[in-house]
Amino acid sequence: MSRLAMHVELSSHQPIEWQGDAVAVGIYDGGVAQKALAQLGERLVALVEQALKGGWFKGKSDEILLLPVPADAPLQVGRIVLVGLGKPEKITAESLRSLAGRMVDVCNRSNITSLLMLPALEKFKEVKGVDILEAMAEGVWLADYRFDHYRSDKSELTQRILNLVVLPVRDKISQQAATVLDHTRRVVNGVYLTRDVANQPANRMTPEDLAQVAREVAHKHSLHVTVLDEEKLAEKGMHALLGVGQGSCHPPRLIILEYRGAGDKAPLAVVGKAVTFDAGGISLKPAGKMHEMKYDMCGGAAVLGFMQAIADLKAPVNVVGIIPAAENLPSGTAQRPGDIVKTAKGLFVEIQNTDAEGRLILCDAIHYAEHFNPHTIIDLATLTGACGIALGSHASGLFVNNQRLCDALLEAGRHTGERLWQLPMFDEYQAVLKTPAADLRNIGDGQAGAIIGACFLSRFVGENRRWAHLDIAATSFDLEGKRSYSPKGATGIGVRLLCRFVLENFS
Ligand code: BES
Ligand code: MN
Ligand code: ZN
Repeated sequence: MSRLAMHVELSSHQPIEWQGDAVAVGIYDGGVAQKALAQLGERLVALVEQALKGGWFKGKSDEILLLPVPADAPLQVGRIVLVGLGKPEKITAESLRSLAGRMVDVCNRSNITSLLMLPALEKFKEVKGVDILEAMAEGVWLADYRFDHYRSDKSELTQRILNLVVLPVRDKISQQAATVLDHTRRVVNGVYLTRDVANQPANRMTPEDLAQVAREVAHKHSLHVTVLDEEKLAEKGMHALLGVGQGSCHPPRLIILEYRGAGDKAPLAVVGKAVTFDAGGISLKPAGKMHEMKYDMCGGAAVLGFMQAIADLKAPVNVVGIIPAAENLPSGTAQRPGDIVKTAKGLFVEIQNTDAEGRLILCDAIHYAEHFNPHTIIDLATLTGACGIALGSHASGLFVNNQRLCDALLEAGRHTGERLWQLPMFDEYQAVLKTPAADLRNIGDGQAGAIIGACFLSRFVGENRRWAHLDIAATSFDLEGKRSYSPKGATGIGVRLLCRFVLENFS
């Protein structure tokens, strides 16, 4: 598995004393250098000014320029990296994360293995103080992730920056900055775990393989783990989960992780869909993009990464992570369209489309979460293609039965850049789930697909239970690498969001 390897260090040394490959200098739109440039000495200030006056560099947010440092300059580095910051009023945590990610890319491609960043703990309208440090550290670490287990010839891969970012910090806030950095590292480690697990192909990550990873994580981080196998699932009446997995020779599992950092307080329950491969079952998907369905376990992987991060942080909260895992394949033993299954809650569901399987494994898992009497249940799932049609990949769909919970989640989304957008669940939407054959069916009439998926799940949430459903189908994996800090593949979305949410609201 990938390890967070890049060393990020805080230093209070003068930049002049520092030795390494390069120093990064931020330039605002209009060619104004960040204040700390002066600390590099007159010689370098003149060099940067030459670049700005010559119009080589304007400070736009997508610009990066490398300048060689003259041999007789007082600085012990070879290059200056000019980094465009854009307009100061437009600087946000997300723009900094993105910038940090691009810097990692430039360093990797330019053979820079150690980089110094000047103090950036300034005050912008949208982001200030240690939040700047948090965003920058997230950006560099998240960008530095690589999934290369199956690349035999590693020589093609670029050198990775090893010793990045030394951010000189004023004494006053250095303790706080160190704490933030340490916190961020533990959270990003959770994101790495999520990406690692979700990036594994389906032949290397079956439901039992996932359970084994959960056991290992639990062992290392002192979490309590329980894995229910197919026999136990049958005893508990989880026939919706069992039905989805019955076409595969890799039987389903229900993985439960418990962390107690707050005595006997009611826990937060997080439930994550882990369909290790979704071929659609008998309602088979078209071949074109079917390989992408190895990512249909991103919700479960996010729960695993989140649980690790919370345990690693020794956070003063109680959380339960529940991961229903199954493989959805067509075969002679697979469930058929028209089959009726009895869920653990007791409701009968007519399966009209075996490809709407996420809601089936989740309905038993959500019902199971009820046993912990949680104050809130949050589920994360790559549930519907329709969510991507509605929102694209810049926000996950958010469905709630409580507006305060909604607002808290929206805030966590804004802070982390894992943005959410609320979609409605008006009662009227429920009607299309009616079927004469059973209590409900697992699809609607084709309209409002993401909402209908959420409505189905809502039927398995206990009365008065606060609940949120996050549809991460279009945000949890990115095969183009659209964000500088998310390499192609699983993004690890959900981990940073949930950490922020639980720590802001329940610790
Ligand atoms: N795993 C898919 C949803 C999905 C699609 C995730 C694309 C990521 C990218 C889910 O199980 C599914 O197949 N949903 C169906 C539901 C439909 C049959 C009601 C869909 O979206 O088409
Ligand atoms: Mn499906
Ligand atoms: Zn699916």
